[in-house]
Amino acid sequence: MSVILGIESSCDETGIAVVKNGREVLANELASQIDVHKIFGGVVPEIASRQHTKIISQLVAQVMDSIEEPIDAIAATQGPGLMGSLMVGLSFAKALAYSWKLPFVPVHHIEGHLFSAFLGEKAPEFPFLSLVVSGGHTQIIQCHAPHHYEILGTTRDDAVGESFDKVARLLNLSYPGGPSIQKAAATGDPTAFDFPRAMRNKGNLEFSYSGLKTAVLYALQEGEAKVEDVAASFQAAAIDILLIKIKQAIQQTGATQLVIAGGVAANQLLRDRTTTELDIEVFLPPFKYCIDNGAMIAAAGHSRFEHGLFGDFGTTPNPGLPLQAS
Ligand code: KG4
Ligand code: ZN
Repeated sequence: MSVILGIESSCDETGIAVVKNGREVLANELASQIDVHKIFGGVVPEIASRQHTKIISQLVAQVMDSIEEPIDAIAATQGPGLMGSLMVGLSFAKALAYSWKLPFVPVHHIEGHLFSAFLGEKAPEFPFLSLVVSGGHTQIIQCHAPHHYEILGTTRDDAVGESFDKVARLLNLSYPGGPSIQKAAATGDPTAFDFPRAMRNKGNLEFSYSGLKTAVLYALQEGEAKVEDVAASFQAAAIDILLIKIKQAIQQTGATQLVIAGGVAANQLLRDRTTTELDIEVFLPPFKYCIDNGAMIAAAGHSRFEHGLFGDFGTTPNPGLPLQAS
């Protein structure tokens, strides 16, 4: 039984949460910076770190005031992410750990997303296959055991979430692109444009999303196109290729459980298609734990804590931290 305080600050959300036993969320606060970055059409790193600095102590106080149980350790995202943003959360976590005389646990952001699957009603059991789809990552990962991962496939260029954000900008839809494209797509025709499904016949588990974005650009340059139809056709292609590759990965690995995590796991078309089309038990994190949050970091931190995988006060943020077995 352990209770972990989790701090996430790798990009534009300050997430603070307390999770018991890696599964039960006792408190969860999220301060989104979307409104601040929206006017720039994407995240401005310098503004992001300042926003984290402004809000972090208030959020931690709020979370701590709302729980009764004592904390056993403090976990924070070490990377990957924006250097300045990571620095704020990690330094805050180390300072708290020092003053409260508690262990400090650094967490890989993607490991956090993987562990968000444990915050749902039913939890997966290792080993399982996973698809991590976010603004920075598109990866198929074989999760052999806690903290022992094998990346089976990744994107060669843009991440799928990044392509939603870029295409939204082309369509003059608001940031972040995922939710606004999903909304526009709801009244569009997904067959209006036949956008490419890159790498579909390559026989590997690699992705490429930059061509899809370019295809959208060309379609818009060719003439009048209804925003809703372009959004729906883009979304159909972007999600289709995820399904194609994950089906292939299931066949290759013989996996019986699949975790889908990361911001794009909030996409309704992906959620519907993966739950109806795949011959495998699918674990989707609750909607609010798909995008960056503190609870997923606390959940992963719980497992690291139980395995004795601590950091120390010399642990520094790493914007390019690899997801390695440790
Ligand atoms: O995991 P996340 O919050 O941050 C990163 O680690 O990158 O993911 C953010 C990404 C953004 O690119 C956003 O557009 C995308 O997730 N996203 C979605 C949806 N909600 C968020 N993409 C598609 N459909 C959605 N409903
Ligand atoms: Zn993320």
